[in-house]
Amino acid sequence: MPHYALITGASSGIGLALAEALARRGRNLILVARRRAALESIAHELSRRFGVEVLFRVCDLSEPLQLSGLLHELEQGEWPIDLLVNNAGLGSYGAFVAQDWRREQQLIEVNILALARLCHAIGNVMAGQGSGQILNIAARAGFQPGPWMSNYCASKTYVLHFSEGLREELKEYGISVSVLCPGPTHSAFWRSAQMDSGSLDGSQRLLSAEQVALITVRALEKNRALIIPGWRNRLLAIAPRLAPRWLVRRVAARFNRRFIHSG
Ligand SMILES: NC(=O)c1ccc[n+]([C@@H]2O[C@H](COP(=O)([O-])OP(=O)(O)OC[C@H]3O[C@@H](n4cnc5c(N)ncnc54)[C@H](OP(=O)(O)O)[C@@H]3O)[C@@H](O)[C@H]2O)c1
Repeated sequence: MPHYALITGASSGIGLALAEALARRGRNLILVARRRAALESIAHELSRRFGVEVLFRVCDLSEPLQLSGLLHELEQGEWPIDLLVNNAGLGSYGAFVAQDWRREQQLIEVNILALARLCHAIGNVMAGQGSGQILNIAARAGFQPGPWMSNYCASKTYVLHFSEGLREELKEYGISVSVLCPGPTHSAFWRSAQMDSGSLDGSQRLLSAEQVALITVRALEKNRALIIPGWRNRLLAIAPRLAPRWLVRRVAARFNRRFIHSG
């Protein structure tokens, strides 16, 4: 019976690049996101180019009923999943109290709740199969507090620690868990988070989503626990552990404040 890699947030950015990198390696895919037209054309294009089966499901992961419907369908086992990629995520930027609460809540619902629920449901199915692989997308920003994007950074700290914990727990069920912590990467993410990526681009060389995806699929093949693409990002992930926390907070606050959207 053919197996599938399920990728959330596969309609753009890192999720789309991961879908392409996995299809290139002959993996069948189930793509999940909200934009039907984008999913439809990506599914068509990937199956045409790589000769793999590509299904898609339209689902707003912040809507519990839609998520339940998706999980119910997946739990029937008609499309056995051997790789779950929890990639869908959104950011927000600016003073927390000045943000629209609905967006902050949606951030928690997608970045944390939906990810944990998918790990729980699909993890159970994989445990029954006695094998499987889970990749959760955190961020380099998850290694430290992030003033002016506090909710986002804290959501990624959750993903990082949750995934590392699960990795140890799920070993005995035959399931490997990895966590990807990209640094700033070219994608639609910056625009939707209301951040000025222009100033970021000037201060750092951003990796492309395709570079991140290639590094990630290679690391998955080696069953790496923690995947941090790029040497600069690896250094910046370690640095906050060496400095006092008050200094880390203040440096991060000064750095992040520069990205207030000028437009
Ligand atoms: N880009 C970066 O610099 C960066 C750095 C570190 C970590 N990351 C993380 O990498 C992941 C992918 O980000 P990206 O840069 O590729 O951003 P992106 O291009 O904005 O892609 C986000 C994806 O998530 C989906 N999504 C958003 N809200 C959703 C919802 N409510 N329900 C279902 N799908 C939803 C979007 O699809 P629809 O709009 O079609 O629903 C889209 O496919 C995120 O978890 C992000 O936090 C990104």
